[in-house]
Amino acid sequence: MLKKKVLVTRKLPDEAMRLLYETCEVELNPYDRAMTEDEIIEGLNDKQGLLCLLTDTINAQIMDAAKNLKVISNYAVGFDNIDVKAATERRILVTNTPGVLTETTADLTWALLMAAARRIVEADGFMRRGEYKGWGPMLFLGGDVFGKTLGLIGMGRIGSAVARRAAGFNMRVLYYDMNRLSEDEEKAFGVEYAEFDEVLKESDFVSLHVPLLSSTWHLIGERELSLMKLTSYLINTSRGPVVDEKALVEALRSCRIAGAGLDVYENEPEMAPGLHELENVVLLPHIASASVDTRTKMGTMAAHNLIAGLVGELPKNCVNPEVFSKAEHS
Ligand code: GLV
Ligand code: GLV
Repeated sequence: MLKKKVLVTRKLPDEAMRLLYETCEVELNPYDRAMTEDEIIEGLNDKQGLLCLLTDTINAQIMDAAKNLKVISNYAVGFDNIDVKAATERRILVTNTPGVLTETTADLTWALLMAAARRIVEADGFMRRGEYKGWGPMLFLGGDVFGKTLGLIGMGRIGSAVARRAAGFNMRVLYYDMNRLSEDEEKAFGVEYAEFDEVLKESDFVSLHVPLLSSTWHLIGERELSLMKLTSYLINTSRGPVVDEKALVEALRSCRIAGAGLDVYENEPEMAPGLHELENVVLLPHIASASVDTRTKMGTMAAHNLIAGLVGELPKNCVNPEVFSKAEHS
C-alpha cells in the first residue's frame, strides 16, 4: 500500500517518530522552532495528514490550502488551537491526546501550588545569591497548604486528579463545573460542589482546569480576583487566556491576592508587562505534561490517531467523530 504523506510540525519523542516513519511518508519540520503559517501551508501541499502542536494555529485558510488533508492530529489534550468547526465542515478528522497526561499535569499543578505557597523559587534564588546568613524567625514566611481549602474550577480528568491528591493534605476541596458530578462521584473524590463565586470567595487556593472556549476566555478577571481572599493563591495549568493576565498582574502587584503559580500565558510565549518582575508569582514555560514518559505516550497516541484516520478507521481520540460517520454514509 502506498504510504500516506504527513507533515509533522516538530520533532516528537523517538518512539512516536519511529511509528510515523514506519507507516507514513513523513515531512518533518527541519527547525528547532515552531513552523510559521506559510511554512505549514507549504508543507501541507500534498499531505493527507498533519501532526501538530498546541502552538500551531490551524485555521480554515490552512485547511483550504491543503486539498488532500484528511486528519489533523494534535499533540495535546487541549485543541483550542484548531478551528474544529472548519475542519468538520471540510470533513477533516481532528484528534487529541486525552488521559495520558492527566496525572503528570496534576503533579505539576501541585508543584506550582506548593512552590507559590512556600516561596520555593524565591528562597532558592536567595540561596544562590549567597544571601543566607543564618536561620531567622521571619525568613520566607509563606502560606500553609495542609488543612486549607482548595477550589477547583473545572472538574474533568485533570481537576479530579488534582482533587485526589488533596486528600493527603487534609484539605477541604470545593469545585465548580458546568456539569455537576453525581453524589457518588463527589464522595469518591472527596469534593463539594459550590457556585463559581463561592469557590473564589472561600478557597485558599484556586486552581483552573477548564478548556479554553469562548465561554471560559477571561473567566478570571478583575471581578473574580477581587472576590478571592487576600491570602489566597491562583494556580493556572489550563490555558493562558482563561485568565485576564493584566488584571492578574494588578492583583499580584497590589497584593489583592497572596500569589500565583502559572504554567500558561495569555499570549505565549509573551508575558503581560510587569509579570516577570513580581516575586509573588511562580512562572513556568508550559511544562505541565513535560515528563519523559508522558511526552512519549502523547507522541505515540498522536501518531496512532493520525495513522488510524489515514487508513479509514475512526481514531480512538477523535473530537469530531461526526466527520467519520458522514464519510461512511456518503
Ligand atoms: C497541554 O497544554 C495540552 O493541552 O496537552
Ligand atoms: C482534560 O484532560 C480534562 O478533562 O481535564
